[in-house]
Amino acid sequence: MTATLITNIGELTTNVGTPDDPCGTRRDAAVLIEGERIAWVGSAAEARTPQDERVEVVDAEGRAVIPGFVDSHTHLVFSGDRADEFEARMTGTPYAAGGIRRTVAATREASDDALRRRLRAFVAELHAQGTTTFEIKTGYGLTVADEERLARLAAEVTPEVTFLGAHVVPQEYADRRDDYVELVCGAMLRACAPHSRWVDVFCETGAFTPEESRRVLAAGIAHGLEPRVHGNQLGLGEGVRLAVAMGAASVDHCTYLDDADVAALASSLTVATLLPGVEFSTRQPYPDARRLIDAGVTVAIASDCNPGSSFTSSMPLMIALAVREMGMTPAEAVWAATAGGARALRRDDVGAIAPGLRADLVLLDAPTRTHLAYRPGVPLVGRVWKDGAAL
Ligand code: NIG
Ligand code: FE
Repeated sequence: MTATLITNIGELTTNVGTPDDPCGTRRDAAVLIEGERIAWVGSAAEARTPQDERVEVVDAEGRAVIPGFVDSHTHLVFSGDRADEFEARMTGTPYAAGGIRRTVAATREASDDALRRRLRAFVAELHAQGTTTFEIKTGYGLTVADEERLARLAAEVTPEVTFLGAHVVPQEYADRRDDYVELVCGAMLRACAPHSRWVDVFCETGAFTPEESRRVLAAGIAHGLEPRVHGNQLGLGEGVRLAVAMGAASVDHCTYLDDADVAALASSLTVATLLPGVEFSTRQPYPDARRLIDAGVTVAIASDCNPGSSFTSSMPLMIALAVREMGMTPAEAVWAATAGGARALRRDDVGAIAPGLRADLVLLDAPTRTHLAYRPGVPLVGRVWKDGAAL
């Protein structure tokens, strides 16, 4: 077994926290990795290298170490580009769900190999930016065969695959949406379930009604998938309350919330996943994270990387936006991008630094995690370890 000792860590974010310090901050710390797991966490002064193993010693020289980012919401299997829509939005055209159909057309045209090459390039992009766990949704195929291949390709790179056949009603079903919902709940779900862990639905005006959404989630649950929801992105609606009622792990976007939504989230185990890259690239108002956190809601932040509403995979950017625009402290934002994402994916083996957990860590080229928000746009991710291996 190989081992790595990272020592002289100026500020270690363990996320094994207390109410006063959810990030579980340790100063002058050290972490020992053995194989794929974290073996020991303690003070640098007490760090010992195991005698019987080949140990690489990494001197952090006072820099900060955080858990690898957990990006719980992406749409990374697609083809094509919608930069023209972004350009139009910047001069006032609003974002609408219909643009998804353009990516669907381009994705259906692409070969498995072309999709796979692009997907692998995105994975390299994520790793380079410190993301070590990520979820990927289908949703740009919208035929049984295309959704199946997107789920299969996603499963090649992550265990966190989400079936999103209910992304929009495709053009060819525009006049018979009931038939499409039937297809999603039947043949499409059966084809995708073997590659998927999660079922998701875009519950929004222009996508699926609350009743259609409920049917899709119930069908997914009956096939052994766990629910998550896209809700309250473009306006007030029933997405959040539906997610809570269905026991979803997470409801994502939460841009427009009324008091009943906040109360429903606060009394549930459903995580509110905020996606500030969307508000950045659609010019919508940012969600109010402060209101949610103060109400006792568990908040995650994720990139939503997709070619329409948020074409960025940068978790450091999400942290900077959460702090600057959404009322989060730097500590809350870093927690939300790591432990919060893990909660949103119901994972207890990632998102924190403690003995027995996966050795997914980021050494920052900065003395504290606050620099992720304080120095926006600067590449501060120094070294990344995933499952104990340096990437
Ligand atoms: O999460 N909201 C629905 N789906 C994506 C957007 C997809 C697209 O525009 O291509 C989202 O924002
Ligand atoms: Fe999304």
